[in-house]
This record gives sequence, C-alpha cells and structure tokens, in this order.
Amino acid sequence: MMRFTLPFLFTASACALNTALFDDVVSKVEEMVREYRDFMESLYLEKRCDETSLTECQAANYDDCFAALPNPTCPAGAEYSIPSCGGGEECSGFVDFTTSVYSIAPGTEESDPLVIESVCFSRFMDEWLIQRNERDKAVWDEIGIKPQASFFGSATGAFRYYPGRRSKSCGIYDPTIRPWFVAGSSGPKNIVLVLDKSGSMQGARMSLMKEAAIRVIETLTISDRVAIVVFDETAKIIADEGKHLYQASNESKAILVEAINNMEAKGATNIYDALDNAFDVLNISIGEELAVPCNSAILFLTDGEMTHPEGITPENVTDLVTRRLNETSTRNQKPVMFFSYSVSEAEKVHALPKELACSHEYGVWSRIDRDDKIVEALSSYYRLFALNLGLEENGDFVAWVEPYIYSTGDTLGTTASAPLYDRTKSPPLFLGVVGIDIPFAALQRALGTDDIAKAIEELARRSVAVCPTLELTQCELDSYRAALGGEESRCLQDICSADDLVETIATQCTDSSKYPDNLLANEGAKELTFEESVCCVSDNASDTGVCVGSDLLDDGKDGLSKGAIAGIAVGGAVGLMCLVFLCLQMCGGKSKDEPKTIYVNPQPTAPHHHPPTA
Ligand SMILES: *[C@@H]1O[C@H](CO)[C@@H](O)[C@H](O)[C@H]1NC(C)=O
Ligand SMILES: *[C@@H]1O[C@H](CO)[C@@H](O)[C@H](O)[C@H]1NC(C)=O
Ligand SMILES: *[C@@H]1O[C@H](CO)[C@@H](O)[C@H](O)[C@H]1NC(C)=O
Ligand SMILES: *[C@@H]1O[C@H](CO)[C@@H](O)[C@H](O)[C@H]1NC(C)=O
Ligand SMILES: *[C@@H]1O[C@H](CO)[C@@H](O)[C@H](O)[C@H]1NC(C)=O
Repeated sequence: MMRFTLPFLFTASACALNTALFDDVVSKVEEMVREYRDFMESLYLEKRCDETSLTECQAANYDDCFAALPNPTCPAGAEYSIPSCGGGEECSGFVDFTTSVYSIAPGTEESDPLVIESVCFSRFMDEWLIQRNERDKAVWDEIGIKPQASFFGSATGAFRYYPGRRSKSCGIYDPTIRPWFVAGSSGPKNIVLVLDKSGSMQGARMSLMKEAAIRVIETLTISDRVAIVVFDETAKIIADEGKHLYQASNESKAILVEAINNMEAKGATNIYDALDNAFDVLNISIGEELAVPCNSAILFLTDGEMTHPEGITPENVTDLVTRRLNETSTRNQKPVMFFSYSVSEAEKVHALPKELACSHEYGVWSRIDRDDKIVEALSSYYRLFALNLGLEENGDFVAWVEPYIYSTGDTLGTTASAPLYDRTKSPPLFLGVVGIDIPFAALQRALGTDDIAKAIEELARRSVAVCPTLELTQCELDSYRAALGGEESRCLQDICSADDLVETIATQCTDSSKYPDNLLANEGAKELTFEESVCCVSDNASDTGVCVGSDLLDDGKDGLSKGAIAGIAVGGAVGLMCLVFLCLQMCGGKSKDEPKTIYVNPQPTAPHHHPPTA
C-alpha cells in the first residue's frame, strides 16, 4: 500500500485553491509554448527551403515505428513506465533524449514535398529543445516535474515528437485531427452540428455523415461548447438539459457520439425547423452565458433535398439563416460562421446548401461525397478559425485540452498548444501547431486541489480568457473557400479576381529533385514487436535498464530525485493520490462551492488525442 510522507504544510494548501500559484505555473508553461512556437516559425523561414538542410535530411530522421534509436536511455518514473512491459510490474520503456522521432499521417504521401519540407526543417528543433530544457531546469524543478514532451504537428500531417520514443500504434496518428491541434489552431468556440437523418440519407450517405460528425465531436475539448440538432420532418435538439450547449467534456462528447451512432435514416426533410432549432440553442446559450464569448459555427450536413413542410421555399430558409446569423453574432459580439456540407454524390442537390453558405459573409460550402474527403472537408471550419489566430493581437493565444491518460503509462496529463504561422505572408499562413505535455498532477499540486474537475475548470477559464478575433476580407474568405472546397466552393467569382486571392497553403520551395528520397535513418526495429523494441526489462538491458517496481515508486515520492534512477523525478500520480487522501481527511471530503457548470467526467479520459508515443 501507499505511504503518506508528504509534509503537513502541503496538506494545508491542498484544501484551499491557490489560483495565484496555478496561474503562475500555467503562465510559465504558456510562455514556453510561445517561445517554442517562435523558434519553430524562425526555423521554418530559415531551414525549410535551405538546400543544404534538404540534402542533409537524406536518411537523417528517426521514425516513431521502425527506427532503432541512436541513444536509448531507460529513465525511471511513472511517465516512462509502460504497462505492457515488465509482466505486470511497473517497467520503463526506452527514451532517447538526443533526438526526436517523426511520423506522417495516414492518407498522406511521404513523397509530398510539403510533408518532406516539414519533416526536414523541424528536425532542427532537437538541439534547441535540449538546450532550452537545460536552461529551464530551475523552472521545471519549481513546477516539480522534469521537462516534458514537446511536439510539432504540421498542417500537412507531419508530426515530430521529442524526446524520441517508439509509438505503440504505427501509421495511424494524424496530428491534424487531435484536440490539442484543433484547439491550438481554432481557439475556444461554440459548435452546433445540424444533421440530416431523413430517408434520402439512407445507406452510404448516412455512414459518411456519421463518420464526419463524430470526427468533429472528437476534436473538441473543454474550452469548446457543442450541441447537435438531428432532423427529419421534425428536429430534435441534443444538448445540455435539452436546450443549451454542452461543455465538450469527455462525458458530453460520449452522449453526442452515441446519439449520432443511433441515427436512422427515415422521414421527410425539414431543413427550416432544423436550422431554426440550431440558432435557438446558440441564442439560449448566449442568453444564459453558457456559450463561450468567442467564435461560433453551425455545421450543417445534409444531402440537400428539402421536402418538408409544404410552402417553405429555399428562399425562406435563406432568409431565416440570414436573419438569425445576424441576431446571434450581434448578441455574442463575435462572428457566427455557417458551414454547409453536401453529403451526396448527386449533382443537382447542392444548390441550397451552397446558396445558404454563399448568402452569408462567413459562410462556406463544401461537399463530402467520399469518405476520404471527410477530414479535408471538415477541417475547413477550424482552418478558417486558425487564419485569424495568426493576427498579431492573438499572438499570446495558448490552448489547453482536457486531461487524458498517456497511453504508455498511468500518468494523467494535458497539453498546452499554440499555432504557428508564416508571418511574412498576409494574412499569416497557418503552418501547424506546437504542443508541450504537462502531467495533470503538477497543475493540481499548484492549485492545491484533489478535485480534477476544479483544475479542469481553471484551465478552461484560462483558455477562454483569450478569445481570438476574426477579421477576414471577402476575398480572403473566398480564397479559403477555394482552397478547402475547390473552385466550385467559391462564392465571389465576380468580385474577387485571381489577383485578389491570397495564399492559403505554403508552396513548395524548389524543384522536386532537391528533395531527399528517403527520410529514414534506419529501420533497425522494423522486425521487432512493440515490447521487444521499447521495453527496458532488466534481464535484457542490465546496464541501463531497470524495472520500476511498486516499491521503487513508493520510495520515489519522498524526494523527487531519490527514486529516480536515471536522475528523473517520479511522475506526479502518486503525489496526487496523497493529496486526495489527505484532503479527504483534512477537509471532510466535500468542498461546498462546486461551480455549477462542470460537466467534466472525473474519470481520466482515454488517450485518443495523444501523440502516438506517449
Ligand atoms: C434570443 O434570446 C433572447 C433572450 O435571451 C430573446 O429575447 C430572443 O427572442 C431570442 N431570439 C429568438 C429568435 O428566439
Ligand atoms: C416564405 O416565403 C414566402 C414568399 O416570400 C412568404 O410569403 C412566406 O411568409 C414565407 N414563410 C415563412 C415561414 O417565412
Ligand atoms: C445585422 O443587420 C443589421 C440591419 O440590417 C445591420 O445593420 C448589421 O450590421 C447586421 N449585423 C451583423 C453582425 O451582420
Ligand atoms: C531485448 O531482447 C530481445 C530478445 O531477447 C532482443 O531482440 C532485443 O533487441 C532486446 N532489446 C534491446 C533494446 O536490447
Ligand atoms: C470517456 O469516459 C467514459 C466514462 O464515462 C469512458 O468509458 C470512455 O472511455 C471515455 N471516452 C473517451 C473517448 O475518452
């Protein structure tokens, strides 16, 4: 069993929230994220197109799956322990602090020049991170943890993660659909999904729509608000208490995903009521201050065939949307964007969804006619939000995501992330997102609470404190329509000429012959199973390896360095449990002033949005 050796001093602070210390820790981490972002932005400008850097990139990268890492070490500590190693004992996995590892999102060509460029320029982050971690040692000591994983996901789907670790699941990680990436690039937002479940949606359309809608839900996090309207001839709102937006916690996301999975295609199509209901949810939430005071979007997925009720014309629907978009954005003092998606392979039915998007300043239409287009089409909504996080006044923005269990061990952690841009372009060109992991216990320790929900609420408060502004010229928006949905998605062909369109995606640097044809340094671990290549079991690697048994872990919590065989502190999970125990003893269990808007599940969440390695 556990021993309780923390000093009394610590317990006192466990009972009263120390928001000052919490803010201090959070600010420090945010500062590190911004500095990391600034560095990656300079690296992009300096190294991406540099010929030497491209040449030297040939066979110079360790991938997260097949590579035998050059300098594996076997650090002790809960955050390095891997459940499937050590036959039930806490046992560490190899980590290489001299290099990062990279991966490429499924469906992305490894030969794509933009992917190669991202992999090649980002490898220079290793040296910088090593130096930065060394420099910031005192800061990390103060927070009570060792430097954490830092990673970069490019808008093109390349991903680089430091320190180097083998990933458990190979080839399936797409950074661009992870909450840390989406939250980091789009900011806090209110989302209402409007889903057509009428009879004509039967079959392939329905499964496409379900997949797409679930994708959207899964990218949301605690600083977002979300609800769904499903409709056939009547519309049904799936929202908190049936009427206002949910906080996008694990728990409410599960409710929404279940509702989506349960949809069955039948009945007529009443688009008018569906959209009216969607605006009601936004309007009521704004009235009750349950919406975030940030950008909002309605995501309308339909096959476009309107059949009900009689007497309602497409013009009526357009009028409704125009009127209510105006009302809602005026009341929230932030734009409400309208995204419509035609989930149909048929041509003739796209008129209304497109018309709805084009009749509004912040409207975007695209089609989802094949499942390989889902991610691309849906990313349009946050890519647009991302655009304005690049403006100077939004430069401080850092997002936090709901904590989740790192898949390698038992550590509950969160990620702080920020978007990066090519700021030499106007408007700034979105390049990707950087993130830094933080064990949640460190934040709870700072806040002095055992209550995970409270700490989450504090983080969400921080994230919403910065609401990015959205300012786009008509033609900038039309450029994005074209980039995201193709030329057919443009609304303003008559107004914006080719010259008025702006760059929305980086252009390739040089001719393709200059690119490395092989990124991989080696495939030395290709034949090994995950456990074979990652576990430092003591009888296999007796010099460096150590299985961290439960006894060792218990010792570790006495002092942050004592049990840390490789000079590394034991993760905060144990300390957290002490706090829970002590606070239960000292505070009599319950705290009285529970904020009423927490819908957060106190259970740790699954690692569905975590970098592949951890
Ligand atoms: C929006 O909400 C306000 C109150 O918060 C209400 O007065 C108004 O009628 C609502 N708008 C619509 C169209 O329901
Ligand atoms: C629909 O449009 C027609 C013609 O413009 C109008 O007479 C009718 O009142 C509208 N119906 C609704 C519900 O707005
Ligand atoms: C809403 O409509 C009014 C009147 O037509 C207009 O003056 C105002 O600019 C519109 N507001 C927004 C946010 O579109
Ligand atoms: C661990 O042992 C296995 C089989 O005995 C071997 O293939 C593997 O290379 C060893 N792992 C390391 C990192 O030494
Ligand atoms: C969310 O929490 C539930 C428990 O309510 C858990 O079963 C589930 O695995 C979690 N889901 C995700 C996606 O994190």
